[in-house]
Amino acid sequence: MQPRCVLVVGSGGREHALVLALSRDPAVAEVHAAPGNPGTALVATNHAVDIMDGAAVAALARELGADLVVVGPEAPLVAGVADAVRAAGTACFGPSAAAARLEGSKAFAKDVMAAAGVPTARAHVCATAEAAAAALDEFGPPYVVKDDGLAAGKGVVVTDDRTEALDHAAACGRVVVEEYLDGPEVSLFAVTDGSCVRALQPAQDFKRVGDGDAGPNTGGMGAYTPLPWAPPDLVAEVTATVLQPTVDELARRGTPFAGLLYAGLALTSRGVKVIEFNARFGDPETQPLLARLRTPLAPLLHAAATGTLAAHPELDWSPDAAVAVVLAAGGYPGPARTGGVIAGLDADAPDAYVVQAGTATDSEGRVVGSGGRVLAVVGTGADLSAARESAYARIAAVRLEGSFYRTDIAAAAATAERS
Ligand code: AMP
Ligand code: GLY
Repeated sequence: MQPRCVLVVGSGGREHALVLALSRDPAVAEVHAAPGNPGTALVATNHAVDIMDGAAVAALARELGADLVVVGPEAPLVAGVADAVRAAGTACFGPSAAAARLEGSKAFAKDVMAAAGVPTARAHVCATAEAAAAALDEFGPPYVVKDDGLAAGKGVVVTDDRTEALDHAAACGRVVVEEYLDGPEVSLFAVTDGSCVRALQPAQDFKRVGDGDAGPNTGGMGAYTPLPWAPPDLVAEVTATVLQPTVDELARRGTPFAGLLYAGLALTSRGVKVIEFNARFGDPETQPLLARLRTPLAPLLHAAATGTLAAHPELDWSPDAAVAVVLAAGGYPGPARTGGVIAGLDADAPDAYVVQAGTATDSEGRVVGSGGRVLAVVGTGADLSAARESAYARIAAVRLEGSFYRTDIAAAAATAERS
């Protein structure tokens, strides 16, 4: 079915990218965002709603006559907002609270993977300092310690320093300590209706804050697609060994996962292994992926939301490359500097455009920084080098005091592609 009125829930870069893709589709008459950001307001109607309040989101969807709701962020999914929207009779893209535990609890994800035979790092769930210390010594350095709950990509410490690893465990309470996975990381997303799985193309995210992967983990400082260096059978292999078994296991448990299944993978010397699952589109990987997806988004997401994905055509991709570079506020990933006026937002071109994230409008109507990851610039081109050029030329024209961005997003892949 072709939805005519779509409501996107959330206010970050992922949601702005979803809104942009939906608004490009002439068959979608109305796009709404809740609460959205100043970027979504340019192409959609924003609504001030508490996105953690399922009843309020469901009521807004009914009032608008939305025939599809897309819940972007993990927090409302884990809180059951998609359940509330569906219970009120509106098709909703996003897993139930029960299925979103795949992201909400790392321990639950490990249990599902074990039951489904999905390859992942060996791990122990530790509730005490003694248990954490024993697990660290079992696996040895580099040490990997993860907060068990939702932490916006910042709850993970990977370090050779045993004291730092123990301190992180003590600060979090319940943690997962796991074996270190070597090898490049890949993000592979699948749209699923709970039984049928349609993988998107692979993307790569840059998690560390600084060039050369220096500094602490962040929510993601940039991303690109496609991955010219990845094995050609990667998508087929991961679909067979990770995505389909995970979807089948959740269906078997009576809590089917319908929505976007995000597999964060390490291509290790001992094969592909899952680093983490998320229950939603990744940010910023979604920005370059949607720049290349030619298949109209609304019918695809509607098919996943209504159990009819098997009847949906195969996905169609542009052969072009896309690169997203995140502009972060001074201080990020620590407490970020907010309130600065952003200049240079209005020069979008077909091969480079701004996707807003942590932005707000001040009392004079100016767009200001309001979060850690302020915006991303998406550049496209015939290959990664061209896409990088488009992205970096455009981001150089954006001005926000104290802000910074990585200069090496997709650089190694672009060099390898041309050599
Ligand atoms: P997560 O929140 O689980 O995705 O972890 C954030 C980042 O920490 C990942 O993208 C990896 O860069 C790193 N990381 C997490 N788990 C491991 C692991 N077992 N081995 C190596 N690096 C890891
Ligand atoms: N880019 C990492 C994430 O969305 O969790």
